[in-house]
Amino acid sequence: MMNWNRTVATRHGAARFIIHHSAFIIMKVLLIGDIIGKPGRRLLEMHLPVLLQRHHLDFVVANAENAAHGFGVTPDVADELFRIGVDVLTSGNHIWDKKEIIDYINKDGRLLRPANYSAISPGKGYTIANSRNGSKIGVLNLQGRVFMGPSEDPFAIGMDIVEKLRRETPIILVDMHGEASSEKQAMGWFLDGKVSCVFGTHTHVPTADQRVLPGGTAYVTDIGMTGPYDSVIGIDKEQIVQKFLDQMPTRFRIASENPILQCILVEIDSNTGRALSIERITQKGEEEA
Ligand SMILES: [Fe+2]
Ligand SMILES: [Fe+2]
Repeated sequence: MMNWNRTVATRHGAARFIIHHSAFIIMKVLLIGDIIGKPGRRLLEMHLPVLLQRHHLDFVVANAENAAHGFGVTPDVADELFRIGVDVLTSGNHIWDKKEIIDYINKDGRLLRPANYSAISPGKGYTIANSRNGSKIGVLNLQGRVFMGPSEDPFAIGMDIVEKLRRETPIILVDMHGEASSEKQAMGWFLDGKVSCVFGTHTHVPTADQRVLPGGTAYVTDIGMTGPYDSVIGIDKEQIVQKFLDQMPTRFRIASENPILQCILVEIDSNTGRALSIERITQKGEEEA
């Protein structure tokens, strides 16, 4: 019987040891932070095919709430992201910004809205999809309630859905879309040992706290974004500075300069659903992928 703590401590060596002696299959999952408009989509198109090959990725999740010009997601944009190689799209408070997505989300279960929205809102907040290695993966989208719009309790609803998903598969990925680091960290500890990964989205600013929690859940407070880095969380920087100065209402434009891809690579034991490692990948537009 392998000692789990040894596996985490000496990731690469131990992981190979497990494959050799126990025929465990390691699954590699890429999680992509909020994609911001066309600059984000073009960068993803440039880098994702290379990342898929280089890391032998089994599954890709991306947050699409800002993918259509910074606000919401349209059917065409969702289709484009699936074509590029994303398997499941999560979202958050901007999901309804483009009204035409309502029909689409009712028809295509690969696009999620937060599961703790009203039970009568369109679409669904979780799904089970097939990975490239044939394993089933559960994906759950939740939204925090601290400094966010109204929603139901993400903890109680999240745990109910996790228990339901665990009857189908031990591999579960949770996008915890929220503003407050504290609420996202609390969700990480709450679900530790129950899911493979809890990853934060929404702030568009990456945090450096990625780690595997003691129960085997990979955790990061915020992945960051895939979009223009010379900006204020994706929006034109001069416009936002001006808004802080004059406090006048403004129609926001997304920025375009210096796009950056911020994502997280998680290795998971596909038999148990436990995370083996979590690491950050950052790519800039001009870099070789
Ligand atoms: Fe966002
Ligand atoms: Fe958001």
